[in-house]
Amino acid sequence: MIALGCDHGGINLKTAIMKYLDDNKIEYKDFGCYTEDSVDYPIYAYKVATRVASGEFKLGILCCGTGIGISIAANKVKGIRAAVVSNEFGAEMTRRHNNANILCMGGRVTTEEDAVKFADIFLNTPFSSDEERHTRRVQMLSDIENGSFSVD
Ligand code: RB5
Repeated sequence: MIALGCDHGGINLKTAIMKYLDDNKIEYKDFGCYTEDSVDYPIYAYKVATRVASGEFKLGILCCGTGIGISIAANKVKGIRAAVVSNEFGAEMTRRHNNANILCMGGRVTTEEDAVKFADIFLNTPFSSDEERHTRRVQMLSDIENGSFSVD
């Protein structure tokens, strides 16, 4: 089950992704926004990020104009690794190496066709949990978040 959210700048991408999910019978919940009226992206980032962080949803997808604001907001929620993606390699690597749990994209910088391609890659790529260096690095991200990380 995928959690979806956007602001007015990303609603075109979210609509295209919902069609892709429907066509592929992938379940999702849409947390808004639902029109092109101007809204505040932190609201939708928070709705999706808190549900992903709680484990209610395994992965999320958030879209705004650039993908940046909504990713910054999502990354403020503990347990979230939200990545702004603008190419296929990034969509794959942020799952494999970073265990990203939210994909962020921008409706003013990415085409609907590319967004669907990136979403498909992101949703179908596993974390490389058998490679110690990646689990170690992702653990470091949690340690930074928890205030238990230190370096010389
Ligand atoms: C809204 O105009 C725009 O600022 C927002 O969609 C996003 O691009 C912010 O990072």
